[in-house]
Amino acid sequence: MIPPLHIAGLPIDPPLLAAPMVGYSNFAFRSLVRRLGGAGLLLTEMLSARGLHAMAARGSDDPDRLWGVAGEPRPLGIQIWDNDPGTLAAVAARLVERFAPSLIDLNFGCPARDVAEKAQSGAYLLRRPDRVGELVARVAAACRGVPVTAKIRLGPSAHFITATDVAQAVEEAGGAAVTVHGRTTDQMFRGRADWEQIARIRPHLRRIPLIGNGDVKTAADVAGAFARYGVDGVMIGRAALGRPWLFREAAAALRGEPIPPEPTLPEQRTLLLEHYRLLVEQHGERYAAVQFRRQACRYAQGRPGARSFRAQISRVGTQRELAAVVDRHFAPQEGA
Ligand SMILES: Cc1cc2nc3c(=O)[nH]c(=O)nc-3n(C[C@H](O)[C@H](O)[C@H](O)COP(=O)(O)O)c2cc1C
Repeated sequence: MIPPLHIAGLPIDPPLLAAPMVGYSNFAFRSLVRRLGGAGLLLTEMLSARGLHAMAARGSDDPDRLWGVAGEPRPLGIQIWDNDPGTLAAVAARLVERFAPSLIDLNFGCPARDVAEKAQSGAYLLRRPDRVGELVARVAAACRGVPVTAKIRLGPSAHFITATDVAQAVEEAGGAAVTVHGRTTDQMFRGRADWEQIARIRPHLRRIPLIGNGDVKTAADVAGAFARYGVDGVMIGRAALGRPWLFREAAAALRGEPIPPEPTLPEQRTLLLEHYRLLVEQHGERYAAVQFRRQACRYAQGRPGARSFRAQISRVGTQRELAAVVDRHFAPQEGA
């Protein structure tokens, strides 16, 4: 039995986190994950603090990535990125006031050129543990009791592993948890996440939990991560795309219970249509169809007919056309 995770006073039970993922971990996806159960904490897609700051100054509406956040159940964390302490602190304080999230997560792991190289933020900051500490301290002070966490990678490269220093800087600055994606910045998404390196950080943290992340694909992988690497929590990203029920499978494994069966094809069909309905609620029919394609293809991945599903779903424009394609591929008799 794995104990629940506590982030400052916040219980994360089960200790499984749904990863922030731009383009995917939106309101619709989070709603399905929450309904299926098993994820103890969900996170928004990352938001540029500078962008939010500029929008607030212009009096613009909240960006799309904050859609649904106000009324959504908790626990829910909002993730932001920047490298300027004043901007991050001001934006975090405003988010706390307006949305009352369960926590604010700071992104120090994004390797994308626009974030890391151009804006010298995200994973760029892994070479500057002191700067990470300064950012965490300023944001923590601005958030008045709302926990501030950090998501990092192992370091800039295999020859420059800084995760322990960065994690310690987060702890010393008053951060409440650190999540480590077991890749280096220069790996982007290549190679494999190195969980041995994640485990090496654990003895250097005195107060805050360590959450491991990277390449976890099954409930057995999750159980193995806790057993072998001594992490306090596990974050799952890509493997839950198209399989939002993975969290409840993993939660059962952590309780030592049999893993519940995958949803049947008709249940998956219902989930897909619900996923689409939630996207329509947010985006309207036209843009929802665009958004849905990439998510829907994940559900079909590895199933017979995935390729024709992809081709057909990429041509649909309305809810009716979409339902017809989903019906054809997720018809009950197909799996019988
Ligand atoms: C499409 C995509 C978008 C992502 N967006 C974010 C993000 O907004 N913030 C973040 O911290 N990490 C982001 N990540 C990284 C994931 O949170 C996670 O660390 C990574 O995918 C490794 O975990 P996994 O192997 O379980 O997917 C993203 C990853 C993908 C594939």
